Amino acid sequence: MKIIHTIAELRAHLEEYKSIGQYIGLVPTMGALHEGHIRLVERCVQENAICVVSIFVNPTQFNDKNDLLFYPRTPEQDAEMLRKAGCKYVFMPSVEEMYPEPDTRLFHFGSLETVMEGSFRPGHFNGVAQIVSKLFDAVKPDRAYFGEKDFQQLAIIRKMTKDMNYPIEIVACPIVREKDGLAMSSRNRRLSSQEREKAPQIAQLLSKSTTFDPVKSIQDTISYVTKGLAEDPTFKLEYYEIVDGDTLQPVENWDDSGYIVGCIAVFCGTVRLIDNILYK
Ligand code: PAJ
Repeated sequence: MKIIHTIAELRAHLEEYKSIGQYIGLVPTMGALHEGHIRLVERCVQENAICVVSIFVNPTQFNDKNDLLFYPRTPEQDAEMLRKAGCKYVFMPSVEEMYPEPDTRLFHFGSLETVMEGSFRPGHFNGVAQIVSKLFDAVKPDRAYFGEKDFQQLAIIRKMTKDMNYPIEIVACPIVREKDGLAMSSRNRRLSSQEREKAPQIAQLLSKSTTFDPVKSIQDTISYVTKGLAEDPTFKLEYYEIVDGDTLQPVENWDDSGYIVGCIAVFCGTVRLIDNILYK
């Protein structure tokens, strides 16, 4: 496994493989890796001749300065995990390498970006699109791997890939959870031990809400989850929405779509967690 810091060096290495038609897979990450990331990497290793993992805490997608400041960074541990998973190249650029000048590009994703994360984190998806498009240009992968944990991000990346005509297959990977149900996240490290004990309630409420018999209405299902969280002052709900899985627009009845997902963002203490669950 080789750790590379510049785009020029990365391109020079990958050119060799491209020239003989070998497939390149990319897993973009912000580091502080956990089993959820590693599952993406393992799949990338399996499906491509070469697996490239990028580690870059992208400043342009943070709308909260403290979140950027306190974002966990564990480069040595990350490298060790990636070596074990069979990654061939780790790309760890500096901010100056990725943004030699401030990126002034504006991306528009229509109604995909005005809901949920898009409305609570202004500019977030523009920053994600800026960095992912730069990574796609630097690596020119055949496939790129993203987790369903960031459900809206995945929809945005798919849209950007189509809008830009990138010849890249976007591969979606299921959410990896802790044994108690908590969706794995780099931000979980910032939970206090008390918060860590409570955090699984989010996934547990979501999971329970899929099992009602007779079926509750969408509105009752939303109330069940929001009231469940309101019982504990540790939680502060930002949103819980039940949406069409393709358009991300809220659905009013279970019959309105064949693909329905519930998406949540909630503060557990000071740590903002997101999760989602498939209803249909
Ligand atoms: P990061 O939060 O590090 O996540 C990197 C990738 O791992 C994303 O595709 C995310 O959805 C996936 N992932 C994280 N936790 C997961 C889990 N528990 N189960 C399955 N997949 C999981 O997402 C980002 O970084 C950034 O926005 C990035 C795309 C790298 C752009 O900066």
